[in-house]
This record gives sequence, C-alpha cells and structure tokens, in this order.
Amino acid sequence: MEIVTAVEQVKQWSRMHRANGESIGLVPTMGYLHEGHVSLMRRARSENDQVAATIFVNPAQFGPNEDLERYPRDPEGDTAKCRDAGVDLLFMPGASEVYGPDFQTYVTVEQVSKPLCGGARPGHFRGVATVVLKLFNMFNPTVAYFGQKDYQQLQVIRTMARDLNLDVHVCGCETIREEDGLAMSSRNAYLTPDERKQAVSLYQALQEAQALYAKGESRPEKYVEVMRKRIEREPNTAVDYVKLVHAETLEDLDAVSGPVLAALAVKLGKARLIDNMLLMRTSA
Ligand code: PAJ
Repeated sequence: MEIVTAVEQVKQWSRMHRANGESIGLVPTMGYLHEGHVSLMRRARSENDQVAATIFVNPAQFGPNEDLERYPRDPEGDTAKCRDAGVDLLFMPGASEVYGPDFQTYVTVEQVSKPLCGGARPGHFRGVATVVLKLFNMFNPTVAYFGQKDYQQLQVIRTMARDLNLDVHVCGCETIREEDGLAMSSRNAYLTPDERKQAVSLYQALQEAQALYAKGESRPEKYVEVMRKRIEREPNTAVDYVKLVHAETLEDLDAVSGPVLAALAVKLGKARLIDNMLLMRTSA
C-alpha cells in the first residue's frame, strides 16, 4: 500500500491507472476506522482493479461548536486497517493541502441538504459535498462507496453526481452494526459505558418503527411517538429529531406511502448519534 499526502501524487496515480484501462474504487473517510469503514474498503476491493481510501477530517463540514478539534484520530491503527483491507493507495493530506489560503468555492445541494441533520448542522452538507467533489476530481474514481448509515449524506452525494453530470457511480452500502444493533460510528468512542448501554435504544426505536410498518400502520405520528418513547426511556438521551420521511426527498410524510425512511439523531452525553432504517413491508 502506498501512502501519499499531496494532491499531485493522487492525480498522477489516478491518471496512470485510468490510462491502463483499470477501474478505481474510492472510499472517503475521516479515519478512526471501524468495521463499517472496512466493509466499504472490502467491497471496493472485490469490485475494482485499484482501491483508494482517504483519511481527512474535513474542517469545512464542522460547525463552530462541533467536535473538529477532538474528533478521534488513530493514524497508525487506520493505516494497518487499510493495508489489511487491500487498499492500494491511502491519501492522508493535511488541511492546507486540501484548502489553500484563498479557497472560496463551495458546492451546495439545495433541497436534500435542508431537512433532518441540515437543520441542526447548517453548512454541514455544503462542506461534505465540496470535499467529496474535490476528492472525485483528484481520483477520477469509477465507483465511490458510501455507507447508508449516513443516509442523508449519501442522498446529497447522489444528487450532486446526478446534477453535475459526474462520471462516477455512487454506491450506497449497508450499515454495519455492533452485536446489540448500535450502528458503528467513530463517535461511539465518546460514550461512557453507561451511555453505551443506552445507545442501543436508537436501533430498538428503528426496529419498533419497522414492526409498525410491517403491521400496516398508516399514521406517521404514531411511528414518531413510538420511537421517541423508546429513546426517552433512557435517562441521558436528548432527541434532536425523530422522523418518518420520504426515502428519496427526505421530506416529512403526510401519509405512509412510497419508500419510507425512519431517521433519528440523538444526543447522548458528548456524542450526537444518528441512525436510520429503510422500512420494509415484510422483514427480510
Ligand atoms: P466518516 O464518518 O469517517 O465515514 C466514512 C464512510 O463510512 C461514510 O460513507 C459513512 O457512511 C461510512 N460509514 C460510517 N459508519 C458506517 C457503518 N456503521 N456502516 C457502514 N458504513 C459506515 O462520512 C464521512 O466520514 C465524511 O462526511 C466524508 C464522506 C468522508 C466526507 O468528509
């Protein structure tokens, strides 16, 4: 595995492999890697000639009172995980390599950035879309892999790729969970042992929504009530949002029809955790 820190090295690597007719799979991350990230790398490995991963804690997607400074980091452990997953090129740039001193160009995906996390994190998806487009331009990947765990992010990137005619296939991959159902996240590291136990309520709330859906419940407010109740039973949780939305537009549903997503964001101690589930008529 080659490790590079300069944009020019990435571009050279990409040009060389694309000129050979090879496909490139790209997995962008912010590091502190867990099995969720690694699953994306393995999938990229199985579907492409070349696999690239990036580790960059992107300042543009953090708000002024968010966790940029204390975001967990483990460059050595991350490097080993990338190597084990079969990554060919790992890009670990510093902030000034990605954002020059006069940086002033941003990408805004208008509608789909607004609901859900868009409310609590203004500018977040603008930062995500901007850095992801920059990475696409550096790597010129054939396929880029993103987790459904960050469902709204995936929709923002899909929308950007469609609207800006990008020549990359955006692949959404299933959420990897801990044994008790908690979605893996670098931010789970912020949880105390007590909070960690309470965190399973997010997944349980989503499962309760799935059970209602399988039974044919048609009132969106019923889902929200049941999910909220499950989460608020835990003493340290503060709900940011609990919603039932259209799975493509992410807009609130008046009636339960079409593709339905249950989505939530919950503060638990120092962590803000998100999770979601696409509801299915019958359990798989
Ligand atoms: P990060 O949170 O490090 O996540 C990197 C990728 O891993 C994202 O596509 C995310 O959806 C995926 N992922 C995280 N947890 C997962 C899980 N439990 N199961 C499956 N996939 C999971 O998301 C970002 O970084 C950044 O916003 C980024 C896209 C890199 C832009 O800066």
